[in-house]
Amino acid sequence: MSEFSPSALGTREHWDAVYSRELQGFQEYGDEGEIWFGEGSMTRVIRWLSAQNIPLCSSILDIGTGNGMLLVELAKAGYNNLTGVDYCADAIALAKSICEKEGVSRSVTLQVTDFLGSFSPTQQFDICLDKGTFDAVSLDPDNAEERRLQYVQSLCRVLKPRGLFVITSCNWTAEELLRQFGKEFELKAELPTPSFSFGGQSGHSVTAMALQRRD
Ligand SMILES: C[S@@+](CC[C@H](N)C(=O)[O-])C[C@H]1O[C@@H](n2cnc3c(N)ncnc32)[C@H](O)[C@@H]1O
Repeated sequence: MSEFSPSALGTREHWDAVYSRELQGFQEYGDEGEIWFGEGSMTRVIRWLSAQNIPLCSSILDIGTGNGMLLVELAKAGYNNLTGVDYCADAIALAKSICEKEGVSRSVTLQVTDFLGSFSPTQQFDICLDKGTFDAVSLDPDNAEERRLQYVQSLCRVLKPRGLFVITSCNWTAEELLRQFGKEFELKAELPTPSFSFGGQSGHSVTAMALQRRD
């Protein structure tokens, strides 16, 4: 597994500063802030869930929800049992404000919690989603390898056996993600993402895949 240089993006201080700014931007200008990997990354996940005929009442957790926009779009698509967690209090305050503005608060529960630490829901989820959070965890300057292992452990604690995990990453290839999660998860589907070519080589700027937890 390749290692990335530790980065500020792997620290809570970084995200506190980002969402403090974004919360202020929302309060002053109604700007919802950054959607990681763009609108298409939300559509891709929602289309895939709907193609699987996932019941709209399925319990869905968005890990490191940030501004909660993925949950807003899921709620608009009819999903009504949604939870978002983030360890950054301003991210959750922003997500709450956006959910209220968009009229979807009844379908969404939001909680400030460290996914790698204290999060212990009363029931396991049918589906867990991650867009950019495992990437952030992977950049933790304080022992990223251990943080990644903790992430997999937390995921297995909160996701039902045979439950689905849909991850979008800009740091890891599909093969690398399978190596990271493959002991506890099997590949369900790779979600097509835009490709680019450079210097005769082609690749993908993001990886999106669905994994299923083994029994
Ligand atoms: C790249 S941002 C993505 C935000 C959101 N998923 C999106 O797609 O816009 C990473 C998010 O993960 C959150 N995060 C990182 N480590 C976390 C942890 N251990 N527990 C909970 N949230 C975490 C950050 O606060 C940040 O909101």
